[in-house]
Amino acid sequence: MYKILMTYNNLEGLDSLFSNEEFKIDVYNKPSLEEFKKLIKDYEGLLIRSEVKVTAEIIEAADRLKFIGRAGTGLDNVDKAMATKRGIVIANVPGGNTLSVAEHTIGLMLSLARNIPEAYKSLKNKKWERKNFVGTELFGKILGLIGLGRIGTEVAKRMSAFGMKVVAYDPFVDSNFAKRNGIEIKGINEVYEEADYISIHSPLNDSTRGMINAAAIKKMKDGVRIINCARGPIINEKDLCYAVKSGKIKGVALDVFMKEPPEDWTIVGMENVIVTPHLAASTKEAQIRIAKEMGEVIVDFFTRGIVRNAINAHK
Ligand code: MLT
Repeated sequence: MYKILMTYNNLEGLDSLFSNEEFKIDVYNKPSLEEFKKLIKDYEGLLIRSEVKVTAEIIEAADRLKFIGRAGTGLDNVDKAMATKRGIVIANVPGGNTLSVAEHTIGLMLSLARNIPEAYKSLKNKKWERKNFVGTELFGKILGLIGLGRIGTEVAKRMSAFGMKVVAYDPFVDSNFAKRNGIEIKGINEVYEEADYISIHSPLNDSTRGMINAAAIKKMKDGVRIINCARGPIINEKDLCYAVKSGKIKGVALDVFMKEPPEDWTIVGMENVIVTPHLAASTKEAQIRIAKEMGEVIVDFFTRGIVRNAINAHK
């Protein structure tokens, strides 16, 4: 019997894994570091989302661990180098939440353009303030994407239909692929200089951490609006606060934060900043799609020796 530790408690979509007699799945929702270190010793498989950190310390304690499954996309919460060194396969489900994240990004973009959260708040307070919430159209504006992977591409396709011109920075994308989707690939500075809206769709890594900082913001258009549904630490929150306060940035929509939940709530409370608590991938459809695929990946790995969606190793 293969023992799997699961560190979140949404079991939807995992029925076939739970009913498979070759597996014993134990659910411990968001264990503390100390609990996690003790627990992990017994397990061959680990199933996680973004809330827990699988640090070197955890991996060192994981004597029997062979497989880490990330029910989602981002792997910035796993020490990949250490897992790889220990011969542990890491697999994720990269496509499962693409459409959900793209749709949430667009929801935030529209909310910024039309002041929907502020107007909602005002009317709920029984105020009828039409003049305060005059918006702007997205039509004819330039959308600058940082990162043109699956999510960035889906955002681009949809926003082209709104009549936005889409430019993107992504050092790994072929410009013909972009052109076929109506997107122009540009240098990062050109994206900063041209875009009315900047939406971030890059993974968090050494080259993207803190890339939206004071120097980058200085290059952006006055009155730019920024949306981040990727990872919080890609933006320097202090520099962002300063630029919102000064009026350089007209609006910000954040689904992700430097620390989650935030330790410093300054940005959350600011005017012209709209926020959601890391919800972009949280739809019924995405969660079920991801859980089903991850269940199959786990069964294939342990019972058939088939390694799917691995980002670091082959069996
Ligand atoms: C992801 O990386 O899959 C999304 O941000 C959702 C999450 O981490 O929970």
